[in-house]
Amino acid sequence: MTMKRPLGVLAALALAACAASTPEAASAPAASAMSSSDAVASASGTPSFSDAQADEGRDIFRASCTECHYSSEFQDSQFKFKWGRRSAGNLYQLIQNEMPETNPGSLSPEEAVSIVSYILRMNGFEAGPSRLAADRTILDQISLASIREP
Ligand code: HEC
Repeated sequence: MTMKRPLGVLAALALAACAASTPEAASAPAASAMSSSDAVASASGTPSFSDAQADEGRDIFRASCTECHYSSEFQDSQFKFKWGRRSAGNLYQLIQNEMPETNPGSLSPEEAVSIVSYILRMNGFEAGPSRLAADRTILDQISLASIREP
């Protein structure tokens, strides 16, 4: 559980580096206000979740999911292979719409996004200061590509 892989951070740094080297930020004064706020958004990384939120997700997972799942299923190579091509939004939607299999749709959006946070954390994403919103548009900004194995 304390195992952390730096991939999320590296991806965030790469994004920040790209944003910093965007030429418009330096050249076009009219666009500079917009570009610099974009750069701020990128520098602080893709949307993140808080540790408390991931802990809540872990507790909900233990209460509602372990009847059928081991948490290790959500970080094994099969999971990484499949979900490394999708987003946190896809994961959120599946959990929210289809799980728990015996009572689909019974999780609140907050519960579902907490479980997503927990799964992100166990796949090496770093927690941040703020909570992740239960918002598909925001969740879709979190690519799971970093969980793919080489
Ligand atoms: C009654 C059994 C059952 C319960 C309880 C259950 N699941 Fe599932 N879950 C399944 C089955 C069956 C599948 C489909 C497996 C497959 O198709 O490979 C599945 C698939 C999934 C997948 C997709 C896995 C993948 O690799 O694509 C996720 C994510 C998931 N469940 C999350 C949850 C979460 C989170 C909970 C608790 C809120 C939960 N499940 C509770 C039976 C259950």
